[in-house]
Amino acid sequence: MHQLHLLMLLSSSEVMWISQASVLNLLGALWIIGLKAAEPDTGSVSCALRGISSPPAFSKEGHFIIGGVFSFHYYLRIVQHNYTNHPEPLQCTGRMYTRDLRFARAMQFAIEEINNRSDILPNVVLGYQIHDTCSVVPVASKIALQFANGNDPKITLASSCPKVASVTAVIGDSSTTPSIGMTRLLGLFGVPQVSHFATCACLSNKHEYPAFFRTIPSDHFQAAALAQLVKYFGWMWIGIVRSDSDYGNNGVASFLRAAQKEGICVEYSVAFYRTNHRSKLERIAEVIRSSTSKVILAFIALGEMRLLMEELAKKPPPPLQWIGSESWMTDQEILKSGMFAGAVGFAIEHSVIPGFRRFLLDITAAQVSQSPVLREFWESTFDCTMPRTQTEVDLMQVKLCTGTEDLSAVQIPYTDTSQLRITNMVYKAAYAIAHAIHRVVCDNGQNSQVPRCNKTEFVEPHQVLEQLKKVNFTVNGYPVAFDSNGDPVATYELINWQTGEDGTMQFITVGRYDASQPKGQELSLTKKITWLNGQTQIPVSVCSESCPPGTRKAVQKGRPVCCYDCIPCGEGEISNETDSLGCASCPDEFWPNSKRNECLPKPVEFLSWDEVFGIILAVCSIIGAFMVVVVTGIFYRHRSSPIVRANNSELSFLLLFSLTLCFLCSLTFIGRPSEWSCMLRHTAFGITFVLCISCVLGKTLVVLMAFRATLPGSNVMKWFGPLQQRMTVICFTFVQALICTLWLVLSPPFPSKNLSYYKERIILECNLGSAGAFWAVLGYIGLLAVLCFVLAFLARKLPDNFNEAKFITFSMLIFCAVWITFIPAYVSSPGKLTVAVEIFAILASSFGLILCIFVPKCFIIVFRPEQNTKKHVMGKVPSKAL
Ligand SMILES: *[C@@H]1O[C@H](CO)[C@@H](O)[C@H](O)[C@H]1NC(C)=O
Ligand SMILES: *[C@@H]1O[C@H](CO)[C@@H](O)[C@H](O)[C@H]1NC(C)=O
Repeated sequence: MHQLHLLMLLSSSEVMWISQASVLNLLGALWIIGLKAAEPDTGSVSCALRGISSPPAFSKEGHFIIGGVFSFHYYLRIVQHNYTNHPEPLQCTGRMYTRDLRFARAMQFAIEEINNRSDILPNVVLGYQIHDTCSVVPVASKIALQFANGNDPKITLASSCPKVASVTAVIGDSSTTPSIGMTRLLGLFGVPQVSHFATCACLSNKHEYPAFFRTIPSDHFQAAALAQLVKYFGWMWIGIVRSDSDYGNNGVASFLRAAQKEGICVEYSVAFYRTNHRSKLERIAEVIRSSTSKVILAFIALGEMRLLMEELAKKPPPPLQWIGSESWMTDQEILKSGMFAGAVGFAIEHSVIPGFRRFLLDITAAQVSQSPVLREFWESTFDCTMPRTQTEVDLMQVKLCTGTEDLSAVQIPYTDTSQLRITNMVYKAAYAIAHAIHRVVCDNGQNSQVPRCNKTEFVEPHQVLEQLKKVNFTVNGYPVAFDSNGDPVATYELINWQTGEDGTMQFITVGRYDASQPKGQELSLTKKITWLNGQTQIPVSVCSESCPPGTRKAVQKGRPVCCYDCIPCGEGEISNETDSLGCASCPDEFWPNSKRNECLPKPVEFLSWDEVFGIILAVCSIIGAFMVVVVTGIFYRHRSSPIVRANNSELSFLLLFSLTLCFLCSLTFIGRPSEWSCMLRHTAFGITFVLCISCVLGKTLVVLMAFRATLPGSNVMKWFGPLQQRMTVICFTFVQALICTLWLVLSPPFPSKNLSYYKERIILECNLGSAGAFWAVLGYIGLLAVLCFVLAFLARKLPDNFNEAKFITFSMLIFCAVWITFIPAYVSSPGKLTVAVEIFAILASSFGLILCIFVPKCFIIVFRPEQNTKKHVMGKVPSKAL
């Protein structure tokens, strides 16, 4: 906005240019500056400067003149031009900032020192012209033209109209915007400008500013350093206040670019300029007071910072952690206000310039009375009046300055040499220019130790410009060199505003930033930082607290990415890092822990030997098997008794044997399924049960045949003797064995992990391999059982031995009932319950068989031996017992 846009109309002898920034003031400057052809009719060819040149604040004659521009003041006196007479020269006004006076004195000091030295420019006297630009573009532009044209009001072309500019190079200005204005003009004439304090990254653009150099690092580096600092302390939510000028706007733009890469969010970024209306400043102060971020970056020039400080002091905001840019970080006045305790920020490294303090304090009364700037300085510092004329003294009753006041006794920025920072930049700039001039005019001959310099040579400024690019030296141990952008290597100190033991605020150097270090290692902290309110803990400034592991970030709609909600991970998902962006699903066989920050292997579930359920079923099956053995024992002992004999002992023993197997086969269902146990389980079960049922079927058939046997002329044994019984059993069992063999060969059952039934557990089960085969095995058993049941039902009324048919009917009823209920239970029960249901069905049906078919007989054998007679067996005596 305050950038200078120039329209240049170059004719033979006229230079015209217009600034958008402040046309009115510039018109005043235009009036004064410019070359005008002298009256043609006088005959002599001479020219004169258009207007009056401003006298320098300090000057010194020499072979080569170096220009200097500083901002002793910050305001331009506003004059209404009426265009009827010559306007007054532009004048700076307002309070004097003595820090810039110190800079100017540093330039004088450096030049004097160089003049004293015999290794740089021996026998050559450097002079200077130092001006006050009051940090505004019109004055800076005017001075620039004056530097380019020279100060002589009249120039005679015939004799010595100078082919060269009056200054060889320029040091300054103290801020970005006037520096841009100047270098745009000086660059046209090839006059190099070395600034000590213009930090705008925009000035690194050598297409636009080819003649611009600086000894202070570009804000590009400061912005990167600030972004790194903010990131380092984890402040993800910050506010920004900036100068509405090239300095603030470009600096913050650089910062935002760097900050965005680091993921830093900005709550607000407000700007104002010192000439803005008061209400704008009030609005900005209100934004700061009501912000939610606890950290505020002030990329702001000193002039604006003072205004902001005054405004905020009216109604102090809640405690904020201030981060400062180098323009105000080292300002004593703001420090002393105590408002920004704990502030951190980068500053140019402090340095030592030997002899400089003595030079600063050594101002004689004569010097003061000669220089208007020094006189103003003296009068404002000591609050007295310098005598101008005798009458003035007589007329006014004022305190007169004696000229012997002691400067070293006052505490003002001018005398503060404890932390020379920018001052050293001025000093370096003067040396850089001297070195460049030296390279142009001096000859470092091998034969002579002392360089020989041609002090009368005409030096074109562009020659100095070329040499400036190549200078590389150290002065007082501080290196000076420019890169291709005219920038130095960026090094900063990290400054912290701490309260000292005596209760006063102090600048404490707590770290360093060196842009020449490898990436990521530029910032190094050397001391503890004291934060706002004197606390030692790093203040926290985040829009949202960080999300713990087990949750993920969900950005709030329409807000910066730093503002988010933490959403717990979904089922089966984890996040193992803080501030995770998403949750990851656990692998198939893993499941999150309760905190959802780790995947644990899912527990594997099967009916095992060491759980109560498994043990109970195993005990039941062993009891069953034991029962069968006991029954077998009893039958065997009483094998010759009528009841056993009548009961078809061969089939009975076979049935007892198969029942034992039935009980035992349920054991194969318990324990970790393996390849073998899976294959064994269903096939053993299928075959033993078919064996069992076919024995019962045989018995039923025997009963049916026995009934027929009562008919005359028929012999049951002939139709259904032991051989036929055996064959029946073998045939029926063979079919099942065939089914099972096919099953095992074609698609055997195998252990498998069922991940789908439960999400958080793995069921280790036997995959049937072929469900068809399984249901065929079951179906075959069922078919036989139903057949058996039907036959037994038909035979139940027949007078057989000990109601065998009735008991078989009953047992088959139990059997069928058990297996019919088994089917839905089997299909619907999950995991290890499936196996338990199956075992239960096996046990229940086996117990049904043994209880119904054998236990009543055993009861008679053991407890009612009197009924164990042929008569009873033949059913001639009605049974009483059962
Ligand atoms: C330069 O030399 C003069 C004379 O020797 C001396 O008075 C002065 O202090 C010196 N200046 C500097 C800056 O060294
Ligand atoms: C988080 O999990 C990923 C992959 O599961 C792993 O590479 C990483 O090391 C884990 N991080 C922590 C902090 O456990």
